[in-house]
Amino acid sequence: MLCLGIETSCDETALALVNEGKLIGENIASQVKLHSIFGGIVPEIASREHLRALVPLFDDLLVKCDVKPEDIELIAVTRGPGLLGSLLVGLGFAKGLALALKKPLVGVNHLYAHLLVVGLEQIIEFPALGLLVSGGHTHIYFIRSPFEFELLGRTLDDAAGEAFDKVAKFLNLPYPGGVYIDRFAQMADPDPDLFPRPYIDNDNLDFSFSGLKTCVANFLKRNDHLIFKSMDEAGPDYTPDPELAKVCASFNFAVARTLKIKLGRALKRVRPRSIILAGGVAANTMIRRAIEEQSRAENLPLYVPDKEFCTDNAAMIAYYGEILGQAGLTHGLDMEAIPRGRKIPWDYCQRQFSLSSCTPYCLQKGTFCRRI
Ligand code: KG4
Ligand code: ZN
Repeated sequence: MLCLGIETSCDETALALVNEGKLIGENIASQVKLHSIFGGIVPEIASREHLRALVPLFDDLLVKCDVKPEDIELIAVTRGPGLLGSLLVGLGFAKGLALALKKPLVGVNHLYAHLLVVGLEQIIEFPALGLLVSGGHTHIYFIRSPFEFELLGRTLDDAAGEAFDKVAKFLNLPYPGGVYIDRFAQMADPDPDLFPRPYIDNDNLDFSFSGLKTCVANFLKRNDHLIFKSMDEAGPDYTPDPELAKVCASFNFAVARTLKIKLGRALKRVRPRSIILAGGVAANTMIRRAIEEQSRAENLPLYVPDKEFCTDNAAMIAYYGEILGQAGLTHGLDMEAIPRGRKIPWDYCQRQFSLSSCTPYCLQKGTFCRRI
């Protein structure tokens, strides 16, 4: 089923085509440079840029993939969570296409798409324990199948990516700063006593990163010689001084260790057959390593998407959209955008849906696999 995926939830405008679980092509326009001068995303600018980029990206994708609009069999679009204005631009475009081409429409939960995109590269063994770490979310899910997600824990304040970006902002690094902290952190050994592992002295699976962020901010106030004078100072070849590298390594260590502790706790409560690490922060070197250690200790396979599929993309929307479409799950043209903070309803039009009769996918002995 040739599925077009449309992603406009934040600051990437992306379109992709997936067919039978394989990526045919993708086009992404990033707004990162535009927003970085403001030190964060400006919602109005994001919506306007999506509107500008969508049609040229769509036209170019079809030419690149040698696909005619009428070849598209399903239109999948991110319906949330995200910035409301940005989501509405994507939804408007998707609904217009669905109406013009007379093709079905399906709204995709952006978070579930992040977690499942690794299925483009590998067959996922279900049930899986999913750790989603992005700019807006830090969630642990027990995923019984692509249609059954149980939220086990979530951040109570800042998301992991937000903490990275805010620490980078204190240092006067450009937005989004997670990659800078990651790079600098690799140049020193962490001091495990410099910053605390936040919100672990409890028995729950939730996170709280705002205290850690404040702790780093206070440390930097006392050591302001570490703060960059201008945002352009830390170019791609910049080597940080060892003291700054140690601060970055110690902060990154505190986040990685906290994620590992909570994931380990979740593994004691549910019995998954695999672990999935996903979202933009899954690109982080120290976090990948910590979760790899955890999965080895538990003797469970770990799936981490390629870095290009960790950050926002449309391949994940097209991929999960096709799974939903194959299972007979679609939406009407009245589908709503759901902004961050509101629960995304499972409100598909359930045409012939049953877990055991999903074609061409099937659930066999707990493994969700492609039927050949
Ligand atoms: O998933 P994503 O692209 O967007 C959201 O849906 O939020 O995640 C973006 C987040 C940003 O906070 C960014 O700083 C962070 O992912 N990020 C990283 C790294 N690469 C991206 N954080 C730490 N280390 C990285 N290597
Ligand atoms: Zn995302």
